[in-house]
Amino acid sequence: MNEITPQPSVEKAESLTEQEMDDLCAATAEAIEFGNGFGWLKVPQRQGLERFWRGVLLVPERELYVARLDGHVVGSCQLLRPPPNNEAQRHAAVLTTFFIAPWARGHGMARELLAKVEASAREQGYLQIDLDVRETQKAAIEMFEHAGFVRWAVKPRYAVVEGRFIAGYFYSKELQAAPAPEPALPERAGVQA
Ligand SMILES: CC(C)(COP(=O)(O)OP(=O)(O)OC[C@H]1O[C@@H](n2cnc3c(N)ncnc32)[C@H](O)[C@@H]1OP(=O)(O)O)[C@@H](O)C(=O)NCCC(=O)NCCS
Repeated sequence: MNEITPQPSVEKAESLTEQEMDDLCAATAEAIEFGNGFGWLKVPQRQGLERFWRGVLLVPERELYVARLDGHVVGSCQLLRPPPNNEAQRHAAVLTTFFIAPWARGHGMARELLAKVEASAREQGYLQIDLDVRETQKAAIEMFEHAGFVRWAVKPRYAVVEGRFIAGYFYSKELQAAPAPEPALPERAGVQA
């Protein structure tokens, strides 16, 4: 008898069909129930989840990547670019809302999502990627450290889960060593050097 192998894939999503939105909301709900690490502790109403994801698609600074198993959306990751007013931190992008539905884990899709986000950040000239994660998210921590993210801080009161503080780890991965030299600022009329 032929065994059917599930087909994993990963891609950037500019929009979501009704079916894809349904899949993404279901995967999010399952990941939250299983103890996910991106904020929610209780599964919000379906409408609330959909509003969240529609909002993600609308924000120009957010790049959404989705993981699929046999075509169905089963996970996500976002690259968050700094807003235009944050010139001082324009070197750093943030990785966020990273999860795979519990039943779809172990097919290498998280590794692929991370690689895609990193490639996009490099292409756009970011010097580093930052992220933070609850200390309890062991699989994610293993993956980030394996991918070269370096832990630079621990926040003891990072989250409150079931009435207890959970620490959070802060990681960065340097993509380029140093900023390119900036062109000299033009002299302003009437201002002497
Ligand atoms: C982290 C997560 C996305 C990994 O998903 P996945 O489908 O298992 O990932 P992959 O199959 O691509 O495996 C990627 C790597 O994760 C790590 N990993 C996965 N499961 C693991 C486990 N049970 N224990 C330790 N490391 C594990 C390994 O480093 C693995 O790499 P390897 O296959 O080369 O050993 C998934 O566990 C998840 O959704 N966790 C909850 C959400 C979360 O913690 N998000 C991070 C918030 S920033």
